Amino acid sequence: MGWFLESLNSSIGKKIVMAVTGICLILFLIVHLINNLTLYGGPDLFDTVVKNLDSIKPLVRVIEVILALVFLLHIIYGTYLWYKNKKARPVKYKINASSKNSDIYSRTTFVTGSIIFIFLVIHLRTFWYAFNFGNPMTDLHHYYQFTVETFQNPIYSLFYIFAMILLGFHLNHGFQSAFQTFGWNNKKYFPIIQKLGTIYALVTAVGFASIPVYFLFFYGGN
Ligand code: HEM
Repeated sequence: MGWFLESLNSSIGKKIVMAVTGICLILFLIVHLINNLTLYGGPDLFDTVVKNLDSIKPLVRVIEVILALVFLLHIIYGTYLWYKNKKARPVKYKINASSKNSDIYSRTTFVTGSIIFIFLVIHLRTFWYAFNFGNPMTDLHHYYQFTVETFQNPIYSLFYIFAMILLGFHLNHGFQSAFQTFGWNNKKYFPIIQKLGTIYALVTAVGFASIPVYFLFFYGGN
C-alpha cells in the first residue's frame, strides 16, 4: 500500500491521477449530457427519466460518492500541480514568452477550472439538492417544470452559458493533455487526439449551453 501511495505522490503519479480522473469526468459528462438532452423530449420524457433514476437510488448514491472523490482528486491535484508549476517558473520575465511555449487553453486551465468549480457548487445546490432533498415542485415530480423555471432566470442562465464556454476551453486542453500523459503524443496520433478533443469539447459545451439558451430565449411552454 505504501509503495502505491508513494508513487501517486511522485510528479508523474500526480499527472496520472489528473489524467485518469479527467477521463472519468469526460465519460461522466457524456452520460450527463445525454440525460439532460431528454429535456428536449418534453416533460413526460424528462420526468420519467428522473423517476427511473430514482428507482435505482442506492446504485446512483454509490456512483455519486465515487464521482465526488474523482472531482476532489482532480481539483486537489490540479491545484497542486498549478501551484508547483507557478513556483518553478522564473518570475518577472521582462518579455512574457509563455504564449510561445503553450497555447491559450493550457495557460488558462487553472482559471477555467476554478470558475467551473464555482459553477458546480451553484449547480449542485440548485439541481441536485432540489431533486434529492425536496422542493415543493420536485416533490410532486415536476422536475421538468422546475428546470424550465430555473433557466427562465436570465442571470442564472447567462452564468450557465458563460460557464459552458469555459468548460469547452477546459475540456479542449484537458482531453489532449490526458492522452499525452499516457504517452499518445507521437507525430502520427497526436493530431488525431487533438482533433477528437476539440470535437468532444465543442459538442459538450454547445450541448450543455443549448439548454439554458433554449429555455431562456425559445421556450414557449408545453
Ligand atoms: C445545462 C446544463 C446542465 C443541466 C441542465 C444539468 C442538470 C442536472 C440535474 C437535473 C441534476 C440532478 C440529477 C439528479 O440528482 O437526479 C444534475 C446533477 C449533477 N450535475 Fe448537472 N447539469 C448540467 C451541466 C453540468 C455540468 C457541465 C457538470 C460538470 C461540470 C455537471 C455536474 C453535475 C454533477 C456532478 C451532478 C451530481 C451527480 C448526479 O446527480 O448526476 N452538470 N445536473
